[in-house]
Amino acid sequence: MRPVEIRPDIYWVGVNDRTTDLFEGLWPVSDQGVSYNSYLIKDEKTALIDLSKESFTDDFVEQVSKLIDISKLDYIIVNHMEPDHSGALLRIRQLAPNARFVGMGKAISMMKDFYGVDDNVMVVKHEDTLSLGKFTLRFLFTPMVHWPETMITYLEEEEIMFSCDAFGSYGSLDGVLFDDEAKDQLPFYEKEALRYYTNIVAAFSRNTLMAIDKAAVYPFKIIAPSHGLIWRKDPMRIVSLYQQWAKYATEQTEPGVTVLFGTMYRNTERAMEACLQTITNEGVPVEVFNVSTVHPSFILPSLWTKKGVLIACPTYERAMFPAMVHALDIAEIKSVKNKVAGYFGSYAWSGGAQPVFESYAEKLNWDIAGALEFVGCAKPDDIQTIQQIAQQVARKSKEG
Ligand code: FEO
Repeated sequence: MRPVEIRPDIYWVGVNDRTTDLFEGLWPVSDQGVSYNSYLIKDEKTALIDLSKESFTDDFVEQVSKLIDISKLDYIIVNHMEPDHSGALLRIRQLAPNARFVGMGKAISMMKDFYGVDDNVMVVKHEDTLSLGKFTLRFLFTPMVHWPETMITYLEEEEIMFSCDAFGSYGSLDGVLFDDEAKDQLPFYEKEALRYYTNIVAAFSRNTLMAIDKAAVYPFKIIAPSHGLIWRKDPMRIVSLYQQWAKYATEQTEPGVTVLFGTMYRNTERAMEACLQTITNEGVPVEVFNVSTVHPSFILPSLWTKKGVLIACPTYERAMFPAMVHALDIAEIKSVKNKVAGYFGSYAWSGGAQPVFESYAEKLNWDIAGALEFVGCAKPDDIQTIQQIAQQVARKSKEG
């Protein structure tokens, strides 16, 4: 997309990434794409807010060059040092040798760590301001959303929050930039915002709530994040969604059960099939994921938002089926806590998956509603026990 004037003298100069398969080398975006949003403010002094990923530097420089002579750039505002926003830093420094990098102390020390740059920098503190002429930037320190140096830049005169990763989403910008332009695509961006939240931000939900509180002190008309849509029609929509998801870390979640299954020869899968209606008969929605074929990135939104978790997988060489271990490792890294959980699965000659499940449950503060290991295929008694476990998980997941 070409640069877009979002307000007089304030421009989106981002780029779309449709070729990276794994965001952060972890999270699939092959089908959805992702945007690296940057913003240019033209005033008596010019400022760029965030940059782009290194491999998009040429595209990014071209975007900015359509609007200004980069060599005359005055400030580069560093909201966040993760290289999807700082990768173009060295080239921009070459092209704009007089521009000063502005960031929190930790951002400036990271510039030295990542790029060997420690000159022409300006360290700012929470609520410091920088006048560009008619516009004033105010810097709000929002640490651990989701790195220690992260800040939000607030443009006072236009009441715009340049929030970087906060309020972002996956999804390239397919000819639309604003929430009011997205129309039928809005559910896509909101769904991808939840996936982005659970993949990238969720482990720092407490910090996210603190950041929202800090930002809420100031009136805002526009939320301009570093990924995904700019929210100008209903900026509170994305703030409320992030607030709701952040509260799920410690407060009431949504009714429902996430069923994760792994299976080698379908014995565990058949047992899982036998208990799904037990859950829906309790009036509780259910989502089923095959951990061998579905990436954890797509499982996390359900795990994060639903109260109940049912783990169905076999023992594999006296331990848990490896694909399930991977899914649960990701759940642990992302702090998917305070669930009601059950386990069942087949084994051939010795069990071993159940103690692994119990270990995860303990670490994640999951309330165990029941567990069963069965040999070979599930017999009628096994099915009855599995249905009882599923029923307990469902009943305890009704209220979210
Ligand atoms: Fe979009 Fe944490 O970088």
